Amino acid sequence: MKITIIVFSPSGNTFKVGKMMESAFKNKGAEVQIVDSTRREMIFKQNNRAGFLDKNVSAHDVLMIGGPVYSHHMQYNLLELIKALPQPDEKWGSLAVPFTTFGTISSGEALAEAAALLRITGRKSVLGLKVDAYHCFTKKWDTRINKGMPGKEALPYIDELVAETLKLEGRNPDTVKDISDLFNYQSKSAIFKSNALLKEKRMHKYVFPKVRFDYSKCESCKKCKKACPVQCIEMKNELPMQANANACIHCAECFHTCPYDAISLNIKKYKPFLMMGAKGKGFLTSHETKKTEVFFNSSL
Ligand SMILES: Cc1cc2nc3c(=O)[nH]c(=O)nc-3n(C[C@H](O)[C@H](O)[C@H](O)COP(=O)(O)O)c2cc1C
Repeated sequence: MKITIIVFSPSGNTFKVGKMMESAFKNKGAEVQIVDSTRREMIFKQNNRAGFLDKNVSAHDVLMIGGPVYSHHMQYNLLELIKALPQPDEKWGSLAVPFTTFGTISSGEALAEAAALLRITGRKSVLGLKVDAYHCFTKKWDTRINKGMPGKEALPYIDELVAETLKLEGRNPDTVKDISDLFNYQSKSAIFKSNALLKEKRMHKYVFPKVRFDYSKCESCKKCKKACPVQCIEMKNELPMQANANACIHCAECFHTCPYDAISLNIKKYKPFLMMGAKGKGFLTSHETKKTEVFFNSSL
């Protein structure tokens, strides 16, 4: 059985889950490739997602495709990549498995959103996975949310997902059930919050604090440029700047990477909300019953 895993992973958690899947598939003798779409010029500089996919993705039976939750949604760059998938044919299988990682507060509607777009591209979502992970905003804070996750605790879930995927071997894809109804696990109030108040692009444009460079501290090391997952930092006269501030997804990778403290991003103001959310309290939390979970058709 041939498996392709595609990820978008600004701070590495979703990539880590993808790598865990890759080795679990390899251990079971499946042919597997992982394609990381993060920091890729063809996507973020040339805006050629279809070309990127065509060039990098091999023939497969099942496509596992994952990204992080941002503001209760599947991060939009992963959704854009799904939209660019060609219709299934001999190379591109018609069975898909959306997956996501999130910083314990809410996995929002990430899986449902990915599945809805996968359906438009002619694919069935036959399994799904959400993984409770390190909250990437908290890297420099004294209290970190889920530090070190995903780690060993995620392995049984990955193994379960891989075992369920391998059960599809030899099945006629037309007879396999789409299970995306299972992704509608959020309460009505959580869905209202994500759609009315936490619209991701609006959050980026108007709510999240802006990245600021302090050039008196900058040593032109270019680490921020290399770290930016959407390649929106450019060097001008040896100094970094955001060439396209609208493309910034506020992942804080530049801020966390700068060795000279020359980048400011006031994410600390969210600390009380995130800490409450991590305890399952307050406005942000979704009260979903399980954090890490594999979704599958039990009658497979
Ligand atoms: C801008 C932004 C918004 C986020 N929104 C949420 C959220 O709504 N719920 C949540 O639980 N975690 C949220 N997170 C945390 C990420 O989902 C989590 O750290 C994820 O594992 C990051 O994946 P990556 O390392 O693959 O980029 C957010 C992180 C960022 C940077």
